[in-house]
Amino acid sequence: MHITVSEEVASDYLADVGDILNNKDFLRLSDYTHHQWTNRLMHSINVSYLSWLIAGKLGCDRRSAARAGLLHDFCLYDFAGGTPTGEHQAFYHPKAAVKTSLQYFVISQKEQDAILAHMFPLGPLPNSREAWIITLADKLCASVELCRIPIALSRHNRVVVA
Ligand SMILES: [Fe+2]
Ligand SMILES: [Fe+2]
Repeated sequence: MHITVSEEVASDYLADVGDILNNKDFLRLSDYTHHQWTNRLMHSINVSYLSWLIAGKLGCDRRSAARAGLLHDFCLYDFAGGTPTGEHQAFYHPKAAVKTSLQYFVISQKEQDAILAHMFPLGPLPNSREAWIITLADKLCASVELCRIPIALSRHNRVVVA
């Protein structure tokens, strides 16, 4: 599996997340349908890119926002199944995403906390500006995706995984 990113995508963004986007196990997220119409990889890239843009505009840590946004749903299993703890998937998958992320990448405590809080109000209160950006970007992307409208890097083949 290989990812191709168009030249329209900011090179500064790719410098912040390139190690994740080029990881072949991370790209396996494209195997999982997400929000009925898209896949979990494309959703994660959109949350990441929007978070990076917003964080940059607000003078926040855009690298952390981009990386936590990209990893916020990094779970290599089908969300339709049950969870090992019996928790609802909404509460369980952020913890699973942190666990998987730590197995593959070096991520800061701020990034871990942002991933854990991305389902707010289902789960912990975001404790940084970057965490607030990610939880809002996730909800925005999910809402648009559920309406089957391409958003951010889903548009015009800006990102293609094949
Ligand atoms: Fe999620
Ligand atoms: Fe998400």
